[in-house]
Amino acid sequence: MNDDVIFTPLDWRNLQVKNRLFRSNVSGRFDNEDGSLTQTRINWECNFARGGVGAIISSFVPVQMEGRIVAGYATIHRDDFIPLWQRLGEAVQSFDCKYLLQLSHSGRQMDLPGVHNQHRRALSATGHKESLHGFLCRAMSRHEINRTIEAFARGAWRAREAGLDGVELHAANGYLFTQFLSSAINDRSDCYGGSLANRARFLLDVIEAIRARVGRDFHLQVKISASDCNNVLPWEGRGNTLEETIQVCRWVEATGADALHVSIGSLFPHPLNPPGDFSFETIASTYDAMLSAGVDTFRNYLLFRYPGLRWIFRWLWFRLKRGFPVEGASRDEARAIKAAVGIPVISTGGYQRASLVREVISGGVCDAVSMARPLIASNDLPQQWRAGRDQPERPCTFCNKCLLNAPKNPLGCYELARFDGDHERMIEALMSIYATRADLRIPVSRATAGAG
Ligand SMILES: Cc1cc2nc3c(=O)[nH]c(=O)nc-3n(C[C@H](O)[C@H](O)[C@H](O)COP(=O)(O)O)c2cc1C
Ligand code: SF4
Repeated sequence: MNDDVIFTPLDWRNLQVKNRLFRSNVSGRFDNEDGSLTQTRINWECNFARGGVGAIISSFVPVQMEGRIVAGYATIHRDDFIPLWQRLGEAVQSFDCKYLLQLSHSGRQMDLPGVHNQHRRALSATGHKESLHGFLCRAMSRHEINRTIEAFARGAWRAREAGLDGVELHAANGYLFTQFLSSAINDRSDCYGGSLANRARFLLDVIEAIRARVGRDFHLQVKISASDCNNVLPWEGRGNTLEETIQVCRWVEATGADALHVSIGSLFPHPLNPPGDFSFETIASTYDAMLSAGVDTFRNYLLFRYPGLRWIFRWLWFRLKRGFPVEGASRDEARAIKAAVGIPVISTGGYQRASLVREVISGGVCDAVSMARPLIASNDLPQQWRAGRDQPERPCTFCNKCLLNAPKNPLGCYELARFDGDHERMIEALMSIYATRADLRIPVSRATAGAG
């Protein structure tokens, strides 16, 4: 199918992609405690590049150690990591696949503080604890805000030095940018709080600082939550509306972003993102890893652990899903944002059927889609679509067991049914990314240009 819109190339201002398929961000604990990336991450990313996506958007990559969600995720906070990212980028690019780095900061949404952050409060726009797990935090000073803006600019510069194809700011799903943007979270009284323009200032300052550092000809996109739906716990405020986000997207475009990546929700995970089921059996066996991370985690653990209490969390979680499909979960929001801006839009959430992807691209919802779980389940999904299948042979069930395992166990598909109930086969698939491939191996002596 030569005229298949899915396989039509993209020619954006600063990024050319061979098709409309982006691997969406997926974080897993592949890397070293100091933030240096490993061969395992290279193996992981190359599986998707080999499978036929046009571009990969990395996992959450902190620009500072104090912005990690979980220890063991690769970071971009040091100059001497540039050669490692370069090696990863080149490995992915050898499959004619682009590689974008997601520049990130957790703010207060820090699931497992790790040794660097253990005895200090996370930095945030606010001093109020995070709503679901009760992660404690303190409001950033102006000096800390300026330092963080600079860290994002340096992170973008390092990505460019590494020969990567662009960067994405993670301004969605509850992390530091959301904490500034959201009317339900940001309670500052300085020029970074209050009005929408003030709440957007931090994000726009970062875009400006990146442009000043790397120029206008390097791809810069922003992942943003179309609306907050922050009232997962009913007593929390709803947060930003779609209309407010559309205004933010217009400012983001005017400040120099090249594209938008549209998600939803002011927490991660959130009932609407990733859409699908919630496995109490899984979380009951993994949430203990987070017990000491927040002041409300023990309450949650009881709700997850004891079957007689699960209805409480089930009600809280599933009531917000009403009216939202699993497939193309926030496509209406992406369409509204696309209609309001001039830059391209990527839509994420529940894309696994070729026919749906054709429909949303042809129907003006978005220019491209990003996929996470369907590709975790079927790395070669683009090839299966090209061969004429609508759905993969063994589709992702959107059970979210991969996600709920992620803080404690290796990243991969944990849906036993996809392995015909064969636990050994599932473990074998999970372990396959640890194989050392000689052609991708990181050189032993890596450059040590000094900490940035
Ligand atoms: C295990 C897992 C890890 C994720 N990690 C990130 C991340 O680091 N950054 C991010 O922006 N989104 C992350 N997401 C969200 C995905 O990028 C994606 O937007 C979301 O899962 C919806 O797409 P899907 O239905 O194709 O999975 C993650 C999702 C999963 C399942
Ligand atoms: S565990 Fe597997 S089937 Fe379940 S959501 Fe993740 S990738 Fe899909």
